[in-house]
Amino acid sequence: MSELIVAMDFSDPGDLLACADELRGTVSWCKVGLEAFVLAGPELVHKLEQKGFRVFLDLKFYDIPNTVAAAVRSASRTGARLLTIHTQGGEAMCRAALAAAREAGDRRPLIFGVTVLTSFGEGQMPGIEQGPQDFAKHLASLASSWGLDGVVCSGLEAPHIKTHTNLLALCPGIRPKGASANDQARVVTPAMAVQAGADYLVVGRPITKAADPAGAARAILEEMASVPRTCPNTTC
Ligand code: C5P
Repeated sequence: MSELIVAMDFSDPGDLLACADELRGTVSWCKVGLEAFVLAGPELVHKLEQKGFRVFLDLKFYDIPNTVAAAVRSASRTGARLLTIHTQGGEAMCRAALAAAREAGDRRPLIFGVTVLTSFGEGQMPGIEQGPQDFAKHLASLASSWGLDGVVCSGLEAPHIKTHTNLLALCPGIRPKGASANDQARVVTPAMAVQAGADYLVVGRPITKAADPAGAARAILEEMASVPRTCPNTTC
Protein backbone atom coordinates (compact mmCIF):
# COMPACT_ATOMS: atom_id res chain seq x y z
CA MET A 1 0.00 0.00 0.00
CA SER A 2 1.26 3.50 -0.78
CA GLU A 3 1.62 5.77 2.23
CA LEU A 4 1.00 9.52 2.41
CA ILE A 5 3.67 11.67 4.09
CA VAL A 6 2.77 15.28 4.78
CA ALA A 7 5.74 17.65 4.37
CA MET A 8 5.35 19.99 7.32
CA ASP A 9 7.49 22.80 6.00
CA PHE A 10 7.07 25.48 8.63
CA SER A 11 9.74 27.70 10.15
CA ASP A 12 7.76 28.18 13.34
CA PRO A 13 7.71 24.92 15.32
CA GLY A 14 4.45 26.05 16.94
CA ASP A 15 2.78 26.27 13.51
CA LEU A 16 4.17 22.87 12.61
CA LEU A 17 2.84 21.24 15.76
CA ALA A 18 -0.55 22.93 15.26
CA CYS A 19 -0.68 21.47 11.74
CA ALA A 20 0.28 18.08 13.18
CA ASP A 21 -2.62 18.32 15.63
CA GLU A 22 -5.01 19.06 12.76
CA LEU A 23 -3.76 16.08 10.76
CA ARG A 24 -3.44 13.62 13.63
CA GLY A 25 -5.69 10.64 13.00
CA THR A 26 -5.85 11.36 9.26
CA VAL A 27 -2.21 10.77 8.29
CA SER A 28 0.41 8.75 10.11
CA TRP A 29 3.61 10.02 8.48
CA CYS A 30 5.03 13.53 8.48
CA LYS A 31 8.17 15.03 7.05
CA VAL A 32 10.44 17.34 9.02
CA GLY A 33 12.85 19.23 6.80
CA LEU A 34 15.70 21.65 7.21
CA GLU A 35 13.45 24.66 7.72
CA ALA A 36 12.01 23.31 10.97
CA PHE A 37 14.87 21.08 12.13
CA VAL A 38 17.49 23.83 12.01
CA LEU A 39 15.41 25.79 14.51
CA ALA A 40 13.74 23.16 16.63
CA GLY A 41 15.99 20.07 16.33
CA PRO A 42 15.45 16.58 17.74
CA GLU A 43 12.93 17.80 20.32
CA LEU A 44 10.51 18.46 17.48
CA VAL A 45 10.91 14.91 16.19
CA HIS A 46 10.24 13.56 19.70
CA LYS A 47 7.11 15.70 20.02
CA LEU A 48 5.77 14.44 16.69
CA GLU A 49 6.51 10.86 17.72
CA GLN A 50 4.66 11.42 20.98
CA LYS A 51 1.68 12.60 18.92
CA GLY A 52 1.80 9.23 17.14
CA PHE A 53 3.48 10.27 13.88
CA ARG A 54 6.21 8.36 12.10
CA VAL A 55 8.79 10.95 11.13
CA PHE A 56 10.65 11.23 7.85
CA LEU A 57 13.64 13.46 8.62
CA ASP A 58 14.57 14.98 5.28
CA LEU A 59 17.97 16.58 5.80
CA LYS A 60 19.50 15.31 2.52
CA PHE A 61 23.03 14.72 3.80
CA TYR A 62 25.87 15.27 1.32
CA ASP A 63 29.43 15.40 2.72
CA ILE A 64 32.50 13.22 3.12
CA PRO A 65 31.67 9.64 4.18
CA ASN A 66 32.90 10.06 7.77
CA THR A 67 30.79 13.19 8.31
CA VAL A 68 27.67 11.70 6.76
CA ALA A 69 28.04 8.50 8.80
CA ALA A 70 28.29 10.60 11.97
CA ALA A 71 25.26 12.69 10.95
CA VAL A 72 23.24 9.52 10.26
CA ARG A 73 24.27 8.14 13.66
CA SER A 74 23.02 11.35 15.32
CA ALA A 75 19.84 11.49 13.24
CA SER A 76 19.10 7.85 14.09
CA ARG A 77 18.98 8.82 17.76
CA THR A 78 16.07 11.22 17.13
CA GLY A 79 13.71 8.31 16.48
CA ALA A 80 13.16 9.30 12.83
CA ARG A 81 12.09 6.30 10.72
CA LEU A 82 13.42 7.49 7.37
CA LEU A 83 16.45 9.64 6.50
CA THR A 84 17.70 11.06 3.23
CA ILE A 85 21.17 11.41 1.76
CA HIS A 86 22.18 12.55 -1.73
CA THR A 87 22.93 9.61 -4.02
CA GLN A 88 25.34 11.91 -5.85
CA GLY A 89 27.52 11.75 -2.71
CA GLY A 90 28.82 8.51 -4.21
CA GLU A 91 29.33 4.90 -3.20
CA ALA A 92 31.59 5.39 -0.18
CA MET A 93 29.30 8.03 1.31
CA CYS A 94 26.13 6.00 0.71
CA ARG A 95 27.61 2.79 2.11
CA ALA A 96 28.94 4.67 5.17
CA ALA A 97 25.47 6.13 5.78
CA LEU A 98 23.86 2.70 5.58
CA ALA A 99 26.44 1.13 7.89
CA ALA A 100 25.90 3.91 10.44
CA ALA A 101 22.12 3.46 10.32
CA ARG A 102 22.52 -0.31 10.85
CA GLU A 103 24.26 0.35 14.15
CA ALA A 104 20.81 1.35 15.47
CA GLY A 105 19.66 -2.28 15.11
CA ASP A 106 15.99 -3.20 14.68
CA ARG A 107 14.73 0.37 14.96
CA ARG A 108 17.18 1.69 12.42
CA PRO A 109 15.92 4.38 10.07
CA LEU A 110 15.56 3.56 6.39
CA ILE A 111 18.13 5.32 4.22
CA PHE A 112 16.81 6.83 1.01
CA GLY A 113 19.01 8.40 -1.65
CA VAL A 114 17.78 11.55 -3.35
CA THR A 115 18.20 11.07 -7.10
CA VAL A 116 17.30 14.30 -8.92
CA LEU A 117 15.25 16.92 -7.06
CA THR A 118 11.73 17.14 -8.43
CA SER A 119 12.25 20.89 -8.91
CA PHE A 120 14.73 20.18 -11.75
CA GLY A 121 13.35 20.16 -15.27
CA GLU A 122 15.13 19.54 -18.59
CA GLY A 123 18.48 21.31 -18.95
CA GLN A 124 18.46 22.78 -15.45
CA MET A 125 21.02 20.60 -13.69
CA PRO A 126 24.40 22.29 -13.69
CA GLY A 127 27.05 20.21 -15.47
CA ILE A 128 24.76 17.24 -16.20
CA GLU A 129 24.12 16.52 -19.87
CA GLN A 130 21.54 13.78 -19.28
CA GLY A 131 17.89 14.76 -18.82
CA PRO A 132 16.59 14.64 -15.22
CA GLN A 133 14.58 11.47 -15.73
CA ASP A 134 17.44 9.48 -17.26
CA PHE A 135 19.87 10.77 -14.67
CA ALA A 136 17.45 9.88 -11.87
CA LYS A 137 17.15 6.32 -13.24
CA HIS A 138 20.94 6.06 -13.47
CA LEU A 139 21.38 7.23 -9.87
CA ALA A 140 18.67 4.82 -8.73
CA SER A 141 20.46 1.87 -10.28
CA LEU A 142 23.64 2.92 -8.43
CA ALA A 143 21.67 3.34 -5.18
CA SER A 144 20.31 -0.16 -5.66
CA SER A 145 23.75 -1.68 -6.20
CA TRP A 146 25.03 0.09 -3.07
CA GLY A 147 22.23 -1.40 -0.98
CA LEU A 148 20.21 1.69 -0.08
CA ASP A 149 16.66 1.05 1.11
CA GLY A 150 15.04 3.39 -1.35
CA VAL A 151 15.29 6.49 -3.47
CA VAL A 152 13.56 9.83 -3.71
CA CYS A 153 12.40 10.31 -7.29
CA SER A 154 9.50 11.81 -9.20
CA GLY A 155 6.46 9.74 -10.10
CA LEU A 156 7.66 9.95 -13.69
CA GLU A 157 10.72 7.81 -12.96
CA ALA A 158 9.10 5.53 -10.38
CA PRO A 159 7.72 2.92 -12.83
CA HIS A 160 11.18 2.29 -14.30
CA ILE A 161 12.83 2.22 -10.86
CA LYS A 162 10.20 -0.13 -9.41
CA THR A 163 10.53 -2.44 -12.41
CA HIS A 164 14.31 -2.62 -12.49
CA THR A 165 15.30 -2.49 -8.81
CA ASN A 166 14.06 -3.63 -5.41
CA LEU A 167 14.22 -0.09 -4.07
CA LEU A 168 11.38 1.60 -2.23
CA ALA A 169 10.28 4.76 -4.07
CA LEU A 170 9.42 7.97 -2.25
CA CYS A 171 7.89 10.56 -4.55
CA PRO A 172 7.55 14.29 -3.90
CA GLY A 173 6.26 16.58 -6.64
CA ILE A 174 2.68 15.39 -6.09
CA ARG A 175 -0.09 17.72 -7.17
CA PRO A 176 -3.82 16.99 -7.22
CA LYS A 177 -5.44 18.08 -10.52
CA GLY A 178 -5.73 21.87 -10.70
CA ALA A 179 -3.26 22.56 -7.85
CA SER A 180 -0.39 24.96 -8.44
CA ALA A 181 2.94 23.24 -9.20
CA ASN A 182 4.76 25.99 -7.19
CA ASP A 183 8.51 25.40 -7.68
CA GLN A 184 8.11 21.73 -8.62
CA ALA A 185 8.88 20.73 -12.23
CA ARG A 186 8.35 16.96 -12.47
CA VAL A 187 4.86 16.61 -11.00
CA VAL A 188 2.25 13.84 -11.04
CA THR A 189 -1.17 13.49 -9.42
CA PRO A 190 -1.65 11.29 -6.33
CA ALA A 191 -3.39 8.66 -8.48
CA MET A 192 -0.55 8.66 -11.02
CA ALA A 193 2.03 8.23 -8.26
CA VAL A 194 0.17 5.22 -6.83
CA GLN A 195 -0.18 3.70 -10.30
CA ALA A 196 3.55 4.32 -10.83
CA GLY A 197 4.26 2.07 -7.85
CA ALA A 198 5.32 4.79 -5.40
CA ASP A 199 5.66 3.46 -1.85
CA TYR A 200 5.50 6.90 -0.24
CA LEU A 201 3.91 10.09 -1.59
CA VAL A 202 5.24 13.32 -0.07
CA VAL A 203 2.78 16.19 -0.23
CA GLY A 204 3.39 19.59 1.32
CA ARG A 205 1.73 22.82 0.22
CA PRO A 206 -1.43 21.30 -1.31
CA ILE A 207 -2.21 20.15 2.26
CA THR A 208 -0.46 22.60 4.58
CA LYS A 209 -1.63 25.71 2.72
CA ALA A 210 -5.19 24.47 2.25
CA ALA A 211 -8.00 26.20 4.13
CA ASP A 212 -8.85 22.76 5.54
CA PRO A 213 -5.62 20.71 5.72
CA ALA A 214 -7.30 17.58 7.10
CA GLY A 215 -9.93 17.75 4.34
CA ALA A 216 -7.23 18.18 1.69
CA ALA A 217 -5.32 15.19 3.12
CA ARG A 218 -8.49 13.07 3.14
CA ALA A 219 -9.18 13.96 -0.50
CA ILE A 220 -5.66 12.88 -1.47
CA LEU A 221 -5.98 9.63 0.51
CA GLU A 222 -9.30 8.94 -1.25
CA GLU A 223 -7.70 9.57 -4.64
CA MET A 224 -4.82 7.25 -3.68
CA ALA A 225 -7.27 4.52 -2.69
CA SER A 226 -9.30 4.91 -5.89
CA VAL A 227 -6.68 3.36 -8.18
CA PRO A 228 -4.84 0.05 -8.13
CA ARG A 229 -1.17 0.20 -7.24
CA THR A 230 1.24 -1.22 -9.77
CA CYS A 231 3.57 -3.63 -7.99
CA PRO A 232 6.23 -4.65 -10.46
CA ASN A 233 8.73 -6.00 -7.92
CA THR A 234 9.20 -7.84 -4.69
CA THR A 235 9.20 -4.82 -2.35
CA CYS A 236 5.48 -4.26 -2.93
O1 C5P B 1 5.02 21.59 -0.98
P1 C5P B 1 5.49 20.43 -1.78
O2 C5P B 1 4.45 19.35 -1.96
O3 C5P B 1 6.14 20.83 -3.08
O4 C5P B 1 6.62 19.78 -0.86
C1 C5P B 1 7.44 18.74 -1.31
C2 C5P B 1 8.35 18.33 -0.21
O5 C5P B 1 9.17 17.27 -0.66
C3 C5P B 1 9.27 19.46 0.27
O6 C5P B 1 9.36 19.34 1.68
C4 C5P B 1 10.60 19.15 -0.37
O7 C5P B 1 11.70 19.51 0.43
C5 C5P B 1 10.54 17.63 -0.50
N1 C5P B 1 11.35 17.07 -1.58
C6 C5P B 1 11.18 17.41 -2.90
N2 C5P B 1 11.98 16.84 -3.86
C7 C5P B 1 12.92 15.98 -3.52
C8 C5P B 1 13.10 15.61 -2.18
C9 C5P B 1 12.28 16.19 -1.22
O8 C5P B 1 10.30 18.19 -3.22
N3 C5P B 1 13.65 15.38 -4.44
